[in-house]
Amino acid sequence: MEFYVDIADLDAVKKVAAYYPISGFTTNPKILTKAKRPVTELMSEYRDYVEEKNLKIFFQVTGETAEEMFQQASALHDYFGNHFIVKIPAVKEGYQAVRLCKEAGIPVLVTVVHSMMQALVAAQAGADYVAPYVSHIDNIGADGIRCIEHMLQAFRQAGLNCKVLGASFRTVDQLERLAVIGCQAVTITPEMFDMLIAHPSTTESMADFRSAWKKTFGDQQISDLLPR
Ligand code: G3P
Repeated sequence: MEFYVDIADLDAVKKVAAYYPISGFTTNPKILTKAKRPVTELMSEYRDYVEEKNLKIFFQVTGETAEEMFQQASALHDYFGNHFIVKIPAVKEGYQAVRLCKEAGIPVLVTVVHSMMQALVAAQAGADYVAPYVSHIDNIGADGIRCIEHMLQAFRQAGLNCKVLGASFRTVDQLERLAVIGCQAVTITPEMFDMLIAHPSTTESMADFRSAWKKTFGDQQISDLLPR
């Protein structure tokens, strides 16, 4: 499963990348409003960083019409090159924009997906990724994980080469269940990365190891015990 960081703050992305295996980072219009520095200033830093680390970067178009969405996607693609994937919302104009982008060779993620059929039509239109909002789906009385399971099945059955990138998570359990059903990618907050690997039993065992070691070897480290 590919892991992405859902944030616009480059320092935060770098911190996550220093510890965890990430494939890139995702943003959306709301996330960009929370960037701590002017976005125009950040753009060139984003570009250098994704180039250097060979990561993917996702920006969502803000236009309303298919033509506006396509123009913005083209401009972003020209700037970021092959590291860029455009996020296009699952609205009627968006589906037309998907076609225009694919004809121009721009990779596409269809976002703000809340149903299996939105995803299936996007995949059929040529989207490379769809991004279902798992917790949003749960909150409208449906089942976000089950919805993704159906997407994966439908794509497989139709022979569609579209990946599901799950978004909007509240619990580690949601991610665990997605990994088990073969969801190809997820985007999560930096805090969620820490939650994924935290376990009280691991903390407890580590404390036990430390105290046993200290009683016998004091401040020595394992490497100090190598023959000289
Ligand atoms: O990537 C989608 C995400 O940013 C939406 O998440 O916080 O509204 O559940 P949220």
